[in-house]
Amino acid sequence: MKILAVTSELYPLIKTGGLADVAGALPAALAPEGLNVITLVPGYPVVIKGLTDTQVVQRFEDLQGGAAKVIAGKAYGLDLLVLDAPHLFGRGGNPYLGSDGKDWPDNGQRFGALSQVAALLGREQGFDALHLHDWQAALAAAYVKFIGGPPCIVTIHNLAFQGNFPASLFPSLGLPDSAFSVEGVEYYGGVGFLKAGLALANAITTVSPTYAREIQTVQDGMGLDGLLRHRASVLHGILNGIDTDVWNPATDISLAKTFSPKSMAERTENKRAVEKKFGLETGNGPLFCIVSRLTGQKGMDLVLATTDRIVARGGRLAVLGSGEATLEAGFRAAAARHKGRIGMSTAYDENLSHLMQAGSDCIVIPSRFEPCGLTQLYGLRYGCVPLVSRVGGLADTVIDANDAALAAGAATGLVFSPVTLEALEHAIDRAFALYADPIAWRGLQNTGMKGQLGWGRSAARYAKLFRSLKVKS
Ligand code: ADP
Ligand code: GLC
Repeated sequence: MKILAVTSELYPLIKTGGLADVAGALPAALAPEGLNVITLVPGYPVVIKGLTDTQVVQRFEDLQGGAAKVIAGKAYGLDLLVLDAPHLFGRGGNPYLGSDGKDWPDNGQRFGALSQVAALLGREQGFDALHLHDWQAALAAAYVKFIGGPPCIVTIHNLAFQGNFPASLFPSLGLPDSAFSVEGVEYYGGVGFLKAGLALANAITTVSPTYAREIQTVQDGMGLDGLLRHRASVLHGILNGIDTDVWNPATDISLAKTFSPKSMAERTENKRAVEKKFGLETGNGPLFCIVSRLTGQKGMDLVLATTDRIVARGGRLAVLGSGEATLEAGFRAAAARHKGRIGMSTAYDENLSHLMQAGSDCIVIPSRFEPCGLTQLYGLRYGCVPLVSRVGGLADTVIDANDAALAAGAATGLVFSPVTLEALEHAIDRAFALYADPIAWRGLQNTGMKGQLGWGRSAARYAKLFRSLKVKS
């Protein structure tokens, strides 16, 4: 089967979060299943720069106010179709935000164009199915429905981002008037890109089984729970895997020292490197880390509120992340207050994120909701024990170190609920207690590192789903 995946970010070309990692890993993961995935991405400057073996396959005189073309090419072993529309995507920096930190005012036009071109390529280039990632691609399901194209799967990576725009956008989208209806793209009087995709796709997936259940509840459905319950028979939770070649502690060139479960002592050199990067003192207590967007979703305000406790108990904390200004300022202030015990960097640094998983003892992820989460999986792979809230994909991937799981040798981390400061503090206290027992801690690390974290089972589930669409269409 020939699949056109459509995504607004793609590792290693352009990344703001886990979507890029997943979209970058799926083509290779699905190939052994007999799926040939070609990925359509916007022609951001870094994408155009990275392309080789290029060939123009489509030209548009006017696509949302400017000339555009689709270039077929390759980058990092990925087969790409790139929408080269300089008036829409020829901007550096973040794919969604201007330098003022606000959404680009023409995001509706930009990702409307991406979706329109996806459906057109689907029709004209012989694709068997479209795989639409998040709201930025989801409107393609509407173009397919009202104009034509192959069957679609929409994958929800984060229901918090829905791509809702005023009704005034609609006339520019090139959809027939009949598409502006409750069954189509209309959402509370405006245009809802994700809503349209969820209403019109042949199947919907999200990135963990627990999140698939949570989003059907009023509490976590972000206004779309009713529609998702209505579509429950085609909604599937398929857990994300990780690229075990990119994230391999035995070969990772970002590390100070590579290691495996048999040579865990080598982790110390990575710990020293993390300490040095963050200006931390060496100590006997655990080194906690954060590698995250600093947002409310990620529960980072709760971590901030525990910093004094972590330090008082003899721990240290290294924070790599950026996001909400108050959280950035809060962690900066904590680092200033606890010099040598807390370190903070707002950089986006892929290499440092690998080193931190290799050198820290425990990665803290107290998310309020988490569709899947990848950093806990990277933590498991690198012997950096995850401390997580029991939500979404975190609940599906980390086994709490309760007495039964410890006795059975099944535990891989610390899981707490509800997502409150008290429960997080209690989990941190448990982490200190376990860390003080080196045999127990090593057990958590070993069990985590032995886990099946790759794409195997999930790739097979995607493949089955794609094949079922082909039979039906
Ligand atoms: P989300 O996509 O919601 O942000 P995930 O856990 O799925 O959460 O993915 C986050 C990805 O972004 C991971 O690959 C993580 O290592 C990476 N990441 C987050 N912040 C940074 C940062 N400041 N520098 C480097 N990588 C980061
Ligand atoms: C989103 C989610 C995250 C998930 C990632 C990849 O960014 O917030 O939980 O891991 O997508 O699916």
